[in-house]
Amino acid sequence: MNVSVVAEPLAAITADAVVVGVYSDDKKLRDPAARVDQAAGGALRGVLDAEKFQGKVGHVTHLHANGKLPSRRVVIVGLGKRSETTAEAVRRAAAAGLRRARDLGARDVAIEVLGDRLPSRQRAHATVEGAILGTYTFDRYKREKVEKFVETLRVVEPDGRQRREAAEGARRGQVFAEATWFARDLINAPANDVHPTHLAQVAGEMARTGGLTLQVLDRTECKKLGMGAFLGVAAGSEQPPKFIHLSWMPTGRTRKRLAIIGKGITFDSGGLDLKTPDGMLRMKDDMSGAAAVLGVMRALPALKPAVEVHGLIAATENMPSGAAIRPGDILRAMNGTTIEIGNTDAEGRLTLADAICYAIQKVNADEIVDMATLTGACVIALGPLCSGLFSNNEPLAERLLAAAQSAGEHVWRLPLIDEYREHLKSDVADLNNVGPRGGGAITAGLFLKEFAGDRPWAHLDIAGPAFIEKDTPLSAKGGTGCGVRTILAYLAEAGR
Ligand code: BES
Ligand code: MN
Ligand code: ZN
Repeated sequence: MNVSVVAEPLAAITADAVVVGVYSDDKKLRDPAARVDQAAGGALRGVLDAEKFQGKVGHVTHLHANGKLPSRRVVIVGLGKRSETTAEAVRRAAAAGLRRARDLGARDVAIEVLGDRLPSRQRAHATVEGAILGTYTFDRYKREKVEKFVETLRVVEPDGRQRREAAEGARRGQVFAEATWFARDLINAPANDVHPTHLAQVAGEMARTGGLTLQVLDRTECKKLGMGAFLGVAAGSEQPPKFIHLSWMPTGRTRKRLAIIGKGITFDSGGLDLKTPDGMLRMKDDMSGAAAVLGVMRALPALKPAVEVHGLIAATENMPSGAAIRPGDILRAMNGTTIEIGNTDAEGRLTLADAICYAIQKVNADEIVDMATLTGACVIALGPLCSGLFSNNEPLAERLLAAAQSAGEHVWRLPLIDEYREHLKSDVADLNNVGPRGGGAITAGLFLKEFAGDRPWAHLDIAGPAFIEKDTPLSAKGGTGCGVRTILAYLAEAGR
């Protein structure tokens, strides 16, 4: 989508559709809706009254201007109570408005910067982010292509003093949303196309188009580094594993070095502990953490955070075969820890263990954050819309929760209960890769914590929200790209 910030008032602009907001607790229309209503000879008020439009967040209606305005259609979106305006209300309103405009066939849309109670940069960011997030579609594999889409979006900021802030907000909102789209595309594409080699190619294109450096380690190189846990998972697959290391180096003195790790299982069959058909159905999404890392890294040259960022992905399939690891096998991770395989379906933590070791030993990261579709138990605990957060470091956990809050993503902290550490005991190795059923998300977190040692580390279990079965206000069903915006907000703060 082509996005720009313009001065021309909505009532005067020529577009296929203009989008205005109304609050639920306003008795009279306020600008710019009032101006548009005036120009249209009271037609807006007429529609709102006739429909008893309540202005609740995300409610939407429209009218055709019939020549009374330069634009052909007016889309009206509810913003909820003005005194309770949030960035999320603005995102959802913009999303609903743009979807309606698109469905009416509009390609060239103008929208006011919604939510006049918020600071202008934040308003513009949320408006553009919502507009783009809400109009995502995935038709790559369909004969019939989606024919209706918005090509250009003009964001109207008539106040000259606010325009620079609005332009910066709009720009960042666009970068955040397009990074999320990028992740969604990778998740929605099937595992026969999105294999480890493909992820490495995608990283390669990103590095070539600028601003990032890339190192891809193949099986032999990973072996030399001692990544026995990662390679154990890869043993059963015909697809060669790839360890992907993308980096962003800011200009000037670097304050901090951060590692962002994404679980990159391009298909999780469970391995010899094979999943049921139902359990396997969605498992192309088991690289959602990796997709989020790639989305984040791709956005960094445009956002230029003042911190070093290393994106790490241990990419492989988890497949059964004569070469696959067996229950009872013992693997040795990069830091020498031995791991008994209690269940080959608990593969994500094995790949992440080596990625965390790499972040410590090779990157020497000051802070490590991983994102992973790690446990079904986390979905049971928090449901389909919320990620679990685990951390060995309070300030880091607080900063991530604040970032998620500002991004509008649901993240809830879960505890790393020391007493449960014994659930991971093995008779023959340093650790077992599974514990009992109860508290499965916590055991997985405790397993990863063993590899983080005393390095500040946080783990986001995104198994629920990475992929949704029905549309939500900001996402179509399928891959959501969750985590991208939270991590971008966290990186922006870390670089302050
Ligand atoms: N990728 C799955 C976790 C998952 C399950 C994500 C459902 C999204 C929806 C992971 O590799 C896995 O299989 N976890 C097992 C762990 C168990 C064997 C200890 C699980 O959660 O059942
Ligand atoms: Mn699994
Ligand atoms: Zn998995």
